[in-house]
Amino acid sequence: MQYPEYRPRRLRRNETLRRMVRETRLSVDDLIYPLFVAAGRNIRREVPSMPGVFNLSVENLVKEAREVRRLGIPAVLLFGIPAKKDPLGKDAYSDRGIVQTAVRALKDAVPELMVVTDVCFCEYTDHGHCGILRNGDVDNDATLEILARSAVSHAKAGADIVAPSDMMDGRVGAIRKGLDRNGYSGVPIMSYAAKYAGAFYGPFRDAAGSAPGFGDRRSYQMDPPNAREALREVALDAMEGADIVMVKPALAYLDVIHRVRQAFDLPVAAYNVSGEYSMVKAAAKLGWMDGDRAMMEILVSIKRAGADLVITYAAKDAAKALGG
Ligand code: PBG
Repeated sequence: MQYPEYRPRRLRRNETLRRMVRETRLSVDDLIYPLFVAAGRNIRREVPSMPGVFNLSVENLVKEAREVRRLGIPAVLLFGIPAKKDPLGKDAYSDRGIVQTAVRALKDAVPELMVVTDVCFCEYTDHGHCGILRNGDVDNDATLEILARSAVSHAKAGADIVAPSDMMDGRVGAIRKGLDRNGYSGVPIMSYAAKYAGAFYGPFRDAAGSAPGFGDRRSYQMDPPNAREALREVALDAMEGADIVMVKPALAYLDVIHRVRQAFDLPVAAYNVSGEYSMVKAAAKLGWMDGDRAMMEILVSIKRAGADLVITYAAKDAAKALGG
């Protein structure tokens, strides 16, 4: 059947019809909201390059978490900004570290909210790289050991899911082994499996104070033109025990999300990263587009590409728009 018998416009005539034939739906259940917890008290500092996103001290984080829960968002992804940074990023695996302290407070105050912890070192090291340095580069195998220690300390504090974002080879296996040996075989790993080295993390590095002090992350994060390599990365993480695999960034890598969805049966998460958020906010501020509509369109496109879960700084706005 074709024109004039078939007319695609028939099913677009009103919103009720459009709702009936809509193929993809974004739900509040799909959303994960990133939060930045900072050491100190009475901190509620808006990140200049990320309107609506704040550095929060623990007591303000708890308030924010209550609101997130009220909106029906099931999970938060927690990043820590420690009081002190050092070459090894010790705060990242200290039981009294900022994330460990925040997790205990969150699980105490809002136990039904899932707390996912980012496992990485760039926010904790004075050089801003994602692990231990040797000869100006991150030493993969030495970093595995402290990554596992960090993940175990998060689990011990009560983290519901750990999410390694460092991109060291073998880290999912090392973390799984560490968790299992310490009695946390029930804690899932959401691995940043295909994480690209690109320009879209700039505002995050403002938020977390985690820009590398020298060089860049191209020796460990992936090269943006590569998609087949993403499938190898995901396959390795799946073999090592990842329970959820992530593609990051999301909007500039919709093809990768789609390919991962087709090739694997694990839940797929996609991280709509800081730069993707900020560029919409900036354009909206200039009056160049309708930021709220653009954001919802981006989020549904990430789902349409095949993501089950979407990590986004717009989660609260999206939950409100979805009627939460
Ligand atoms: C830590 C980490 C980063 C992001 C998430 N985890 C920064 C980086 O790799 O430099 C970026 C998130 C975002 O841009 O929103 N390694």
